[in-house]
Amino acid sequence: MAYSPLSFNLLFTSLILFISTSTSQKTPSNKPHALILPVTKDISTNQHITRIYQRAPGIPISLTVDLGKANLWVDCENNYISKSYRNAKCNSPPCKLAGSGSCQSCYMGPSPGCNTNTCTTSVTNEVTDRLTDVGEVALDVMYLQSTNGSKPGKLVSVPGYVFVCGNTKILEGLPKGVSGMVGLGRAQIGLPYQIFKAFNLPKKFGICLSSLPRSSPGAIFLGDKPYVFPSQGDVSVYLHYTPLITRPFSIPGTNFRNDPSTEYFIQVSSIKINGKNVNFNTSFLNMNKEGFGGTKISTTKPYTTMVTPIYNAFVRAFMEQRKNIPRVKPVAPFSLCYNAKHFPNTQVGPNGPFIDLVLHQKDVFWRIYGANSMVKVGRNVVCLGFVDGGNSDTAIDIGSYQIEDNFLQFDLESSRLGFTSTLLLHQTRCSNFNKRTQA
Ligand SMILES: *[C@@H]1O[C@H](CO)[C@@H](O)[C@H](O)[C@H]1NC(C)=O
Ligand SMILES: *[C@@H]1O[C@H](CO)[C@@H](O)[C@H](O)[C@H]1NC(C)=O
Repeated sequence: MAYSPLSFNLLFTSLILFISTSTSQKTPSNKPHALILPVTKDISTNQHITRIYQRAPGIPISLTVDLGKANLWVDCENNYISKSYRNAKCNSPPCKLAGSGSCQSCYMGPSPGCNTNTCTTSVTNEVTDRLTDVGEVALDVMYLQSTNGSKPGKLVSVPGYVFVCGNTKILEGLPKGVSGMVGLGRAQIGLPYQIFKAFNLPKKFGICLSSLPRSSPGAIFLGDKPYVFPSQGDVSVYLHYTPLITRPFSIPGTNFRNDPSTEYFIQVSSIKINGKNVNFNTSFLNMNKEGFGGTKISTTKPYTTMVTPIYNAFVRAFMEQRKNIPRVKPVAPFSLCYNAKHFPNTQVGPNGPFIDLVLHQKDVFWRIYGANSMVKVGRNVVCLGFVDGGNSDTAIDIGSYQIEDNFLQFDLESSRLGFTSTLLLHQTRCSNFNKRTQA
């Protein structure tokens, strides 16, 4: 069977009918090796969207992937219908999982999102400039696709998955048809930890974001290797590792909410372009005691941002490498653009200088090739796909364009990030995992 998004859909629909009629409260008997979620790129917003099945009867829910955020939230205001919805009673274990100490009274209900004696927590939409509200903590059944690392397997259910009820207003800025966001952050309520716990899986997950539009999805893998791509085998053999760093505070510089950030940080120590060091004051690359500085990985930023002093030095160093090529009028949000004919296509994208993020050790670097550094804007223009981050509290936010078609493994057992650089080097890409051929 071809493993296209369509068959993924059909498989779900037929299995859900079966599952929803059986008792949904017992834990699954067959422990899956790993689970896989499809992730598609929305071309108009550059957001990466996954789809889960939730509720009874189960329906598909599209959610924007937010790597660093803790919880999963959906719009409960509009058409949330489920026989298995439960609100989390104040001070019950789901409230503790959500880190919630607050309790609401809501007399417009009872309805999903509005119940009395229910704990609440914050709901954030990072895409729309930190749009925040407070929502009810709730539980409902979720269904996920299992995999043995190479072939899709049975659908499994997670009864009582803990999430947060948002409202329609906070959906602003998300693509049409998307009804919330899913956080993969390092917190007990995050999708990875809830799934690891439900199935007793090793605490590792992989993401492989597709650069191609909807019909060619990438994937999130919850669980350990292998990550077998057709004709390439297990791509985990290409992984290099760097430690994951925890920021001590959710909001740097404040002890007010002194819980550690759930986001993923790594140590970038310097940047090279074509092997040549980019000259800037590197002190901000090191996170300080208050949590300022450092390098974060983000899927809600479409392009990598750098604070202005680093960005300016970076752009200058890039121009230096291409000084004989005339620039063209920059196209926002970029500031350095060229005629595309000077950057002919290669196996690893437009032929620009390669960029190395030098990591915790001099000999460990993340090499970025044209496919992840140069953005085609219209037919004849390519731009350097990095954006001025102003005076952001992190030095560098590695955005989704720079991680597309790279396989990343978040190994939370060893607190390290595994990265492959572009899979195009190995004649494959993230969407190929889903293009299963006949056995
Ligand atoms: C996964 O299962 C398929 C059969 O369903 C088998 O052919 C394949 O070898 C298995 N892969 C792994 C990595 O175990
Ligand atoms: C680099 O920046 C830090 C912090 O702003 C400053 O203390 C230090 O003096 C700077 N180093 C140089 C060489 O300019």
